[in-house]
Amino acid sequence: MGRVNGVRRRAIVTGAAGFIGSHLSERLVADGWHVTGIDSFTDYYPRMDKESNLASLSRESAFDLVECDLSVDGWQRALAGSTAVFHLAAQAGVRGSFGESFVRYARDNMVATQRVFEGANTHGVRRVVWASSSSVYGDAESHPCREGVTPTLPRSPYGVTKRACEDLAQVYRKAGLAISGLRYFTVYGPRQRPDMAIRRICDALVTGESFAVYGDGFQSRDFTYVTDAVDATVRAALAENPAPVYNVGGGDEATLSRIIALLENLAGCRLTQERRPAQHGDVRRTSADVSLATSSLGWAPEVSLPDGLAAQLSWVRGHVLAEEVA
Ligand SMILES: NC(=O)c1ccc[n+]([C@@H]2O[C@H](COP(=O)([O-])OP(=O)(O)OC[C@H]3O[C@@H](n4cnc5c(N)ncnc54)[C@H](O)[C@@H]3O)[C@@H](O)[C@H]2O)c1
Repeated sequence: MGRVNGVRRRAIVTGAAGFIGSHLSERLVADGWHVTGIDSFTDYYPRMDKESNLASLSRESAFDLVECDLSVDGWQRALAGSTAVFHLAAQAGVRGSFGESFVRYARDNMVATQRVFEGANTHGVRRVVWASSSSVYGDAESHPCREGVTPTLPRSPYGVTKRACEDLAQVYRKAGLAISGLRYFTVYGPRQRPDMAIRRICDALVTGESFAVYGDGFQSRDFTYVTDAVDATVRAALAENPAPVYNVGGGDEATLSRIIALLENLAGCRLTQERRPAQHGDVRRTSADVSLATSSLGWAPEVSLPDGLAAQLSWVRGHVLAEEVA
């Protein structure tokens, strides 16, 4: 898939040192692509974690890394000659997007994305696939959410930046760039960001520390295993006539309480919980209608929630052990 007439296709993956970007880069290299990763190693979580995300890629001759900030011009020449740009770099996280730190969201999401679209257009890149988010839907009135039918009414400044990027994508689509945005629904699995709930629950179960439950625990999410999210992303880059946006949801909707029960069962111990009030911007429910991704990309999620949770818990055990040894 990654070779044409024996020559490797070139991909740019922004946010390659992050959770989803590192998995995507590994998949592309395994498929025969040459990948140039771009990442600025923001301090949202430790650099050491991001370097360890890149551990296996750094041994691959078909992978190289450019460390730079996408919101500052000068890096765009790296785009020349690439078949596809996978733009995953962003400042993620709903709760942190309120208050003063919004400036960071505006820069790393909106400004950086405009620079990527502009650069891809200037350098003749044929395809751009980028990470939008289920956050664009906010607290939807009906479920499951469907592209073009469910209104996009974000409830957090983070969701607003992703919604604004969807508008930017429309502008550059009209200018001739083939862009598809993927509305990822809560992605989980090995290397998940340390601020995300499943990761924090696994960390607490392995270390014996307590886990803060925000709200009543009955808020639910449509959980997507990382290799399924990556598969949809690769398919969007190879599709002949991709749609402007796709929902990418694993189809495994579960409440936080159910996730805790499943993980306690897998870990064989009880989680110490602290109750906290619900947070600004947290929505009650997310759920994706993925029929567009299925019909247009031939995509369907394959990893079940229990299998995915077992894989993440096992990775967290290894990660915590490695940190203790270091
Ligand atoms: N993880 C999820 O559940 C989820 C859900 C919906 C959408 N998304 C989106 O998917 C993408 C990847 O998310 P993730 O969970 O892997 O996040 P992550 O934080 O692990 O990865 C993002 C990477 O982007 C880099 N980055 C940020 N700003 C940059 C800039 N200006 N220049 C260069 N690099 C920069 C960071 O250093 C980081 O390594 C993001 O766009 C996120 O908004 C994620």
